[in-house]
Amino acid sequence: MSGQICIGQTASGAPVALQLRYANRHGLVTGATGTGKTTTLQRLAEGFSRAGVPVFAADIKGDLSGIGAVSDRGRGCPLALWDIFSRHGLPIRTSVTEMGGQLLSSMLGLNDVQSGTIDILFRKSENDQEWPQSLDDLRWHLHDMLEHREEVAARFGNITSSSIGAIQRSILALEAQGGHHLFGEPPFDILDLIRLEGGEGVVSLLHADQLLEAPRAYAILLLWMLTELFRRLPEVGDLEKPKLVFFFDEAHLLFRDAPKPLLQQIERLVRLVRSKGVGVYLVTQSPLDVPEAVLAQLGNRVQHALRAFTPKDQRMIRAAAQAFRPNPSLDVRSALTEMAVGEALVSVMESDGVPSPVERVRVALPESQIGPISDLERSAAIEASPLYACYAARLDGPTAAHALDTRMRQKRGLVPKPAPSGKPWQEGDALAFVPRFVQRPERRKTARLWPALLALSIAFMMLWPVAF
Ligand SMILES: Nc1ncnc2c1ncn2[C@@H]1O[C@H](COP(=O)(O)OP(=O)(O)OP(=O)(O)O)[C@@H](O)[C@H]1O
Ligand SMILES: [Mg+2]
Repeated sequence: MSGQICIGQTASGAPVALQLRYANRHGLVTGATGTGKTTTLQRLAEGFSRAGVPVFAADIKGDLSGIGAVSDRGRGCPLALWDIFSRHGLPIRTSVTEMGGQLLSSMLGLNDVQSGTIDILFRKSENDQEWPQSLDDLRWHLHDMLEHREEVAARFGNITSSSIGAIQRSILALEAQGGHHLFGEPPFDILDLIRLEGGEGVVSLLHADQLLEAPRAYAILLLWMLTELFRRLPEVGDLEKPKLVFFFDEAHLLFRDAPKPLLQQIERLVRLVRSKGVGVYLVTQSPLDVPEAVLAQLGNRVQHALRAFTPKDQRMIRAAAQAFRPNPSLDVRSALTEMAVGEALVSVMESDGVPSPVERVRVALPESQIGPISDLERSAAIEASPLYACYAARLDGPTAAHALDTRMRQKRGLVPKPAPSGKPWQEGDALAFVPRFVQRPERRKTARLWPALLALSIAFMMLWPVAF
């Protein structure tokens, strides 16, 4: 089937497929626990990969990694494994500055006054040309602002020691959840998610089991990734197939306790990335987990069985049934509670803005392995990645925190402390760190051209008198 991904078959054997042309109209996979949502996600992700569409998915329970392994039904997909804690994949890191004031404030759970202080901090750091990289840097910038409170107030606006204190406490809380792992060097290049291997889309999995304990940080990280995609990708309108598809398993975490501005930002981003060729697929138990404004944008729907035990379940069933374009030959409400594991009600976008009538479908199993790969397979996959050499080593340079510390010590007539032991980034460090060096991607090599040019010109100059 070209131009489409087979989801499964109806009882009469008719195939039901997702149209790649409309895959950027986003999607939703819902159903009670254990009804087959993650398996459906794997089936769809595999279909995208085979069709040459790279995929990113947050692997919450660690059970998606089998997508890279063979099974008795077929082969796996090219795999890239990521983990902000660097244990189950290559790290995804960015800097505090890159994350930006708004997302950082949301991540720290700040109120309006405290977010205002962060805005001032960003404007001041821009003015001083000292950009915070890590949470440590951020702490020092806050401290510096407090020390020069009057200067800062005259130039940028009022700040109070109580709001700075509250931000410092939020930073501590984020660190306690492991949030500091998110910040560091080398920074993650979002375009590294858009890669093909052997004509197939690379499936990038973010190992996110520990992030579950810090749902706010998890939500912001994913939102930051979407924001980066939006910022970096050109406007393309509707394509024959998407450039990248994003899957958010356990998507209720994105919205749970999210403040209104954050929800508005999610809604806006989901709407806007569509024309950048990015499809967003949310996977969660109930459509009620997703805010109305986001739900309205999810065109492709796969609804697994729901349980009808409580009044809340009944509401869920009503909402789920109403979400479909009716099919006269199908009683959606009874199907919703009757369906077996792996069965689902499916409606896909057929043409611009028109979903297909709902069908009851037996979702086909993915060709790849269901369930996680072994630790050994995981290590092998991480080391074999062409991105290993770029991201494996932590390369923190001299930090702004150290620069500020030096400045403050000098002002007090103290001797500056030596730079932190984390050595500055040097070409070749990664080579020393990485046991099995794999070639870095092409575009990163351009920076290395200059030593070759230098060597060439020296050789030329030395040969000049000999030749003439
Ligand atoms: N399409 C299918 N055909 C046959 N069996 C399936 C299918 N989908 C799922 N299963 C079986 O059901 C099990 C549970 O599926 P899965 O993990 O996808 O459910 P889930 O809805 O994601 O559960 P949870 O809510 O716990 O995350 C799978 O391990 C598999 O054995
Ligand atoms: Mg699941």
